Amino acid sequence: MSYTVLIPAAGSGKRMGAPQNKMLLPLLDIPIIVHTVEQFEADENCAAIYVATKRDEREIFSEILSFSSKLKEIVDGGDERQDSIYNMLQQMEEHEWVMVHDGARPFISKSVLNALYESVQTNDAVICGVRPKDTLKRVNQDIVKDTVNRDEVIMVHTPQAFSYTLLKRAYEHAYAQNLVVTDDSMMVEALGERVHVVESDYNNIKITTQDDMLTGERILLGRDNHV
Ligand code: CTP
Ligand code: MG
Repeated sequence: MSYTVLIPAAGSGKRMGAPQNKMLLPLLDIPIIVHTVEQFEADENCAAIYVATKRDEREIFSEILSFSSKLKEIVDGGDERQDSIYNMLQQMEEHEWVMVHDGARPFISKSVLNALYESVQTNDAVICGVRPKDTLKRVNQDIVKDTVNRDEVIMVHTPQAFSYTLLKRAYEHAYAQNLVVTDDSMMVEALGERVHVVESDYNNIKITTQDDMLTGERILLGRDNHV
């Protein structure tokens, strides 16, 4: 048994403010997308990798990802993250389990991958996240309404893991209903299906702004014991 991972990497990284797609920016000399794909290349439960890119970046992506023996196809991305994922879902070879993972989260750990993979095999839909460390309040503009019970919320990361048939059904339903979502779980939730949660770790950040590049290098240095 094994899973396929779909990696959306077809954004433009506007918030990073770099002249190129942030996926190609180096963290300790290695492009972000290479770090991300390496984690799945190293996971023995992962059998196949699909990456979505913008058409004009296809060539550079296929060059830098040529090390991957599991990369099946580079697929054209779409206007939104969900369109990029839908394109991969339609292109991929059918496989029992599918994970969706942001190309911009290069620090996904083996233990989180293991927890998701183990859970999806009995639960069909599993996301990962961490508990917020700060106090959370609901506000109306600049006025506090109330304080949120932190035990009832998580900050959601990727990967998110699903049975292939459930994810396909969720995407088809979402597109038929013109649903706009910020994660894949929302599409499954819209079907009324139960989504389980496992713990992620605080290092599994999404590289979004310049500050995250510095944090990212610190995570890499710590992880590989370079210091
Ligand atoms: N993504 C994608 N296709 C899109 C938009 C985003 O595949 N049309 C991917 C990004 O490449 C990224 C992931 O979805 O790996 C999460 O998106 P985000 O962090 O928002 O990246 P960008 O959209 O590139 O950044 P920004 O929103 O700052 O422009
Ligand atoms: Mg975006």
